[in-house]
Amino acid sequence: MGNLLEVKNLSISFTQYVEGLNRHDLKVISDLTIDVDEAEIVAILGSSGSGKSLLAHSILGILPYNSHVTGEIKYKGNVLTQELKEELRGKEICLIPQSVNFLDPLMKVSEQAIGECKDEKEHDEKKIKQREIFARYGLDESVDDLYPFELSGGMARKVLLSTALINDPTLLIADEPTPGLDSQSVKETIEDIKNLKQEGKGVLLITHEIDVALKTADRIAIFYSGYVIEINSVENFINQKNLLHPYTKVLIDALPRNGFNFAEGVQPLDVVEGCPYYENCPIRSDKCRNEKPELIEHEGIMIRCFNFKEANDES
Ligand SMILES: Nc1ncnc2c1ncn2[C@@H]1O[C@H](COP(=O)(O)OP(=O)(O)OP(=O)(O)O)[C@@H](O)[C@H]1O
Ligand SMILES: [Mg+2]
Repeated sequence: MGNLLEVKNLSISFTQYVEGLNRHDLKVISDLTIDVDEAEIVAILGSSGSGKSLLAHSILGILPYNSHVTGEIKYKGNVLTQELKEELRGKEICLIPQSVNFLDPLMKVSEQAIGECKDEKEHDEKKIKQREIFARYGLDESVDDLYPFELSGGMARKVLLSTALINDPTLLIADEPTPGLDSQSVKETIEDIKNLKQEGKGVLLITHEIDVALKTADRIAIFYSGYVIEINSVENFINQKNLLHPYTKVLIDALPRNGFNFAEGVQPLDVVEGCPYYENCPIRSDKCRNEKPELIEHEGIMIRCFNFKEANDES
């Protein structure tokens, strides 16, 4: 199986002006490396503000103008230039956006879901598909002619979901697709995402709901303060074995108490010299204060920590 999406050493920062003309670079994502294979679902878990949506937007080429990006994103082995992103967006690569503000307020929802078509035949085919997917999500025919302002929040989410699915993407980036949905629709969403995988497609699933990640994903990536600190298999998350990073362990331990929601506060965004988890880490050493660990592979697990081996030997 080949790599569908490869993100290598991606960093995103924003230029901010504080107190008049003092420029300040706010680094939001640092040195991010992640990949999605064909027929694979990779989930990203990270606290609010850790840069998950920005990652999604950088893959789609829709970052705000004041952002600076370094690093590389490849799709099927080709560098994703802005041109290529625009060519593939909404077709081979689709986004389920986190915000319902992505809906066009002036367009009937069924037409938005169908999107651009090259001729009437394609439109008719997509119309059938649109109705079928809407129906599956409990959106009856009367919804087709509504405008976004006439939808409830949950309905709007379902329209966004359907819009991505109708286009039958090869790579789906789903940015928090389930919050606010009824349990039947959550189930339906998980099924649809898994079906894409069965068809050989790749999915990057961004979610706060670890339960959804555990039910859906093959691998789970943990974000901390703009860094990926661990990428591990879903099996290891389920049996809680071979989780390597101390932060991942804390997180998983805390989950039953959180109702399995990833409900951490915002992490510090200041650029630190050493390990981003240094301040809270129970296994830190002096080295971690001044040096940043790279994301390395250990027995198929990606880990960013100097001391995980020693800590695991002791426990
Ligand atoms: N246009 C912008 N200018 C400056 N900072 C920005 C801009 N857009 C986003 N940010 C900052 O980047 C950080 C990451 O934002 P992002 O939306 O990617 O977080 P997230 O992980 O998706 O959070 P959530 O879980 O709440 O959706 C935030 O702290 C936000 O303040
Ligand atoms: Mg987000």
